[in-house]
Amino acid sequence: MKIYEAIKADHEIQRNLCSKLLETVGDSDERKELWKELRKELEVHEVAEERHFYKPLIDTDKMQEDARHGMAEHHEIDELIEKLEELDMSSSQWKITMEELSHKVDHHLEDEEKDFFKKSKDIFSKHDEDKLANDYKKTVEEYRKSWPESIPGND
Ligand SMILES: [Fe+2]
Ligand SMILES: [Fe+2]
Repeated sequence: MKIYEAIKADHEIQRNLCSKLLETVGDSDERKELWKELRKELEVHEVAEERHFYKPLIDTDKMQEDARHGMAEHHEIDELIEKLEELDMSSSQWKITMEELSHKVDHHLEDEEKDFFKKSKDIFSKHDEDKLANDYKKTVEEYRKSWPESIPGND
């Protein structure tokens, strides 16, 4: 497996959770459970992706700007997560903010899959692509197990 496929598989989890969450109402157990799951997936993915996808690209002339842009979007996603944590889950504001998050996540995943993957294929060797996938998956697995404490800044 290559890094792109490993990342894309987790993007699908995020897309699925976002769309399910947008169908929930009030502060139901279902909404609480899905929100926790989405928050975990987003946070764990960001850490692993920054480490095993963006970091090797940030020092390249060709992708430095894209890598910075991608990580800035992670920061925007984090801010929306924080905002949602502070809002009353049964309020209309929560739903509006959740829609905003879903929209931002969609846009971000599109950037990565349609643009960044294509460009990074010119940078990574076949060996890099396989190794990064393994390292990425290992980090995700570890961090999922000890989430939320595993995430820097969450402690
Ligand atoms: Fe990302
Ligand atoms: Fe991603």
